[in-house]
Amino acid sequence: MAEAIAVEGLVKNYGSLAAVDGVSFHVPTGSVFAFLGPNGAGKTTTTEILEGLRARSSGSVQVLGFDPWSEGRPLHRLIGVIPQDFRFFEKITPREAIGYYAALFGTRPEPDRLLGRVKLEDKAHSRFDTLSGGQKQKLGLALSLVNDPRICFLDEPTTGLDPTARRAIWDVVRGLRQEGRTVFLTTHYLEEAEMLADRVAIINHGKIVAAGSPAEIIDRLGGAARLRIVAGREVADFVRSRFSNEVAVEGDHVDIVLHDHEEALAILSAVQASRLPWTGFTTVRDTLEDVFVRLVGRMDEGVLKSANGTPGNAA
Ligand SMILES: Nc1ncnc2c1ncn2[C@@H]1O[C@H](COP(=O)(O)OP(=O)(O)O)[C@@H](O)[C@H]1O
Ligand SMILES: [Mg+2]
Repeated sequence: MAEAIAVEGLVKNYGSLAAVDGVSFHVPTGSVFAFLGPNGAGKTTTTEILEGLRARSSGSVQVLGFDPWSEGRPLHRLIGVIPQDFRFFEKITPREAIGYYAALFGTRPEPDRLLGRVKLEDKAHSRFDTLSGGQKQKLGLALSLVNDPRICFLDEPTTGLDPTARRAIWDVVRGLRQEGRTVFLTTHYLEEAEMLADRVAIINHGKIVAAGSPAEIIDRLGGAARLRIVAGREVADFVRSRFSNEVAVEGDHVDIVLHDHEEALAILSAVQASRLPWTGFTTVRDTLEDVFVRLVGRMDEGVLKSANGTPGNAA
């Protein structure tokens, strides 16, 4: 099956609130898909509908060819889930937890191999309530793999973790993809999505405001590339006097908006020839985070005009 997940026109109403408001997206098998959005955007609601834990109000949803709500039983054998804020029995150890999940699923995983995979071997016999936040999340990941799932749903698996624990989780996600599994990830860490995901969808107030690969989104919605020269105001004044490019002074550097790469070379040569002091340069592009902040920030001011039409139908 080429598509692991297909969602069309998904709506979830809580009373008068449309928490998910007409969302459509497709996730190819074997890819990492990141669902990005601020708190309250509708990420967990969507995720739980895909997992078959929550009924939808309308729209169509297929996960591995099943309707998760009416065909949950066969689907649950094929998916792995870590809920947001994963918790477990306080007095149980990771090794016991794996045995417990394996009994539920009727599978026979190798606990040490699973714990090794998430780098939790050394805590195999420690009680859950003595684990750090990162170790708890690693256990959640290990448990989501007990049934050898074809899709892993990870709802904010790295929120609040320290950089080392986050990296360990990223490594596992990359490994899952390498094995041909599909990963559906929610996060509000933009750089995480940019690094891990083949495709992302940015959701805000229940609507998708941008979708595509991180590079496509940046190309379509990001600002122009800039030449950044580490130099003072006199270099900015010099560039303004010679070129028509937009120039801004910020901190210890001067940013010059570029229309093409040749301009960067021409400007650098002119600055060099001017003998004004400068100590370095680089070119900078918007990151997914820059695009996100602009998109979500503007939308909250109620003035979003998405580059390719109205928000909500970008998927
Ligand atoms: N069971 C519920 N009943 C009523 N409102 C809910 C319920 N669950 C979530 N919401 C609301 O729906 C919106 C989306 O929530 P959620 O899907 O948890 O967002 P996210 O995971 O992106 O932070 C929020 O406004 C939240 O308060
Ligand atoms: Mg959530």
